[in-house]
Amino acid sequence: MAHQGSCTVIVGCQWGDEGKGKIVDVLAENVDIVARYQGGANAGHTVHVGEDEFVLHQIPSGILHEGRRCLLGNGVVLDVQQFFEEYDALVARGVDIEGRVGVSSRAQLLMPYHRFLDKAVEHSAEVKIGTTGRGIGPAYEDKAGRRGVRVADLGNRARLTERIEAAQERTVRRLTELGAGTEDLDRAMDEALALGDRLLALSTEVGPEISAALRQGRSVLLEGAQGTALDLDHGTYPFVTSSNTTAGGAATGTGIGPTQITDVIGVVKAYTTRVGEGPLPSAFEPEMDEHVRTLGGEFGATTGRPRRCGWFDSVLTRLASQVNGLTGVAVTKLDVLDTLDELQIATAYRLPDGRVTEHFPADTWALGKVEPVYETMPGWKAPTHDVRKLEDLPPKARAYLDRIEELTYAPVRWVSVGTKRSQIIPVG
Ligand code: IMP
Ligand code: MG
Repeated sequence: MAHQGSCTVIVGCQWGDEGKGKIVDVLAENVDIVARYQGGANAGHTVHVGEDEFVLHQIPSGILHEGRRCLLGNGVVLDVQQFFEEYDALVARGVDIEGRVGVSSRAQLLMPYHRFLDKAVEHSAEVKIGTTGRGIGPAYEDKAGRRGVRVADLGNRARLTERIEAAQERTVRRLTELGAGTEDLDRAMDEALALGDRLLALSTEVGPEISAALRQGRSVLLEGAQGTALDLDHGTYPFVTSSNTTAGGAATGTGIGPTQITDVIGVVKAYTTRVGEGPLPSAFEPEMDEHVRTLGGEFGATTGRPRRCGWFDSVLTRLASQVNGLTGVAVTKLDVLDTLDELQIATAYRLPDGRVTEHFPADTWALGKVEPVYETMPGWKAPTHDVRKLEDLPPKARAYLDRIEELTYAPVRWVSVGTKRSQIIPVG
């Protein structure tokens, strides 16, 4: 198509918390629209602007760049209370967001009963997922079960009330079965519904809006949340989130076609972390775990939980490269490794039966028992925070990046060496 602008998807290549927020913030400099395509308030995107820290849960990280239009696509599950809390907090901090935020009329509404159910199910489950408790699973269950309500339904109060009452009744029965309380649910429902008109006023047709922008040669970023290993289909099922976090989800979750996407950038942390339950094959031994968690400040942005940490796992990043069709990689938090003597990279897994594989196994319980095959690389033992050009990085750090690129089958395009906007090295 003539005059098509660029449409770049940003995806996490590990278990979330790769630093997508920072990369989106940096790339938002050169785009007109930033859109979220899946997930909800389970995401925690931390962005530093000057001395200020912002943690965004539902509003795209592009909001911190003046004038950018920020959209929530049909693929997201929207928690209206949490949304306006975030919205009003940005306004209170002086971010000019009037007229800049749009929500898809097709986005699912995440209702208070979804949050109640998420917590109750998790509490009583034999196999715990370690969810963020934000109601994500139950909201997507209602969507797939065709029981959900969408932003557009806010325009017809009678129908909305009918559908919500039925869903709430069902949920209360479930909660009672699970022995969970329902106090405060009615109050939370009133609060959520009271925000309905305010949300409806922001509703838009996200697919057509993005397509029109692309036709006019404008640039668009589609901001993924969570990561490839948390994808409902391709991740470590059942220890995953309930949406398609990967690049395919960017098309279905915004209402454009895959051919309109021009680039897919995978964000990989220079090591690996995971929050919540489920296997982490390249996990550190306890002492190193504690050490890197402290160096990297690895605590959940949404729940405050400590993240488990481990070595860079290229079996996982190769999966990410393949599933997402990566055209480039952004490596984040390289500086966290500045003081380590030696680094390991997982290149393959030894399965319980002794076979060695370079592929990520579908059997998550087998994945829990693999022994990673490691390659050792020397540490660079020098600070990288102030480096702004690839050639100024210590040769051993460059060798580490070269190896990541080689094993992931995608070129490194950016390297982040700190939380600040300026702490980024563009490559090539
Ligand atoms: P849920 O998305 O709240 O249902 O949680 C499912 C799994 O995904 C849990 O292991 C969570 O810890 C994990 N998870 C959800 N959102 C994020 C995120 O933004 N970063 C990292 N992990 C996440
Ligand atoms: Mg996060």
